[in-house]
Amino acid sequence: MPTYDICRSEQLVEGRGRPGRAGDRYIAVFRVADRVFALDNQCVHVGSPIDGGPVFDGKVLCPWHGWTYELGTGDLVTAIGNQPGLAAHRVWEEDGMVRVHIANG
Ligand code: FES
Repeated sequence: MPTYDICRSEQLVEGRGRPGRAGDRYIAVFRVADRVFALDNQCVHVGSPIDGGPVFDGKVLCPWHGWTYELGTGDLVTAIGNQPGLAAHRVWEEDGMVRVHIANG
């Protein structure tokens, strides 16, 4: 179960996403308040990156066509309730780095 450094902590700005790689996987990390989050960075709509989308109320909006994901779970938010969306990964800060653990990577 590998762990990857995605970026330096200082590079992760409040309320903004940042793209990174975890092996073969494209990852987006986010800082909101005092928490960090990590999701796969390929929207389930047509696979575009979500890291540049606006963050609000614990969610990120895909900047391409507006699909919305819960930062904590990766669930896709829809008008009829949440559905499975993106994989959410364990993420933490250590030694000045943002680190992600990929359970099935
Ligand atoms: S690619 Fe994300 S909403 Fe279309």
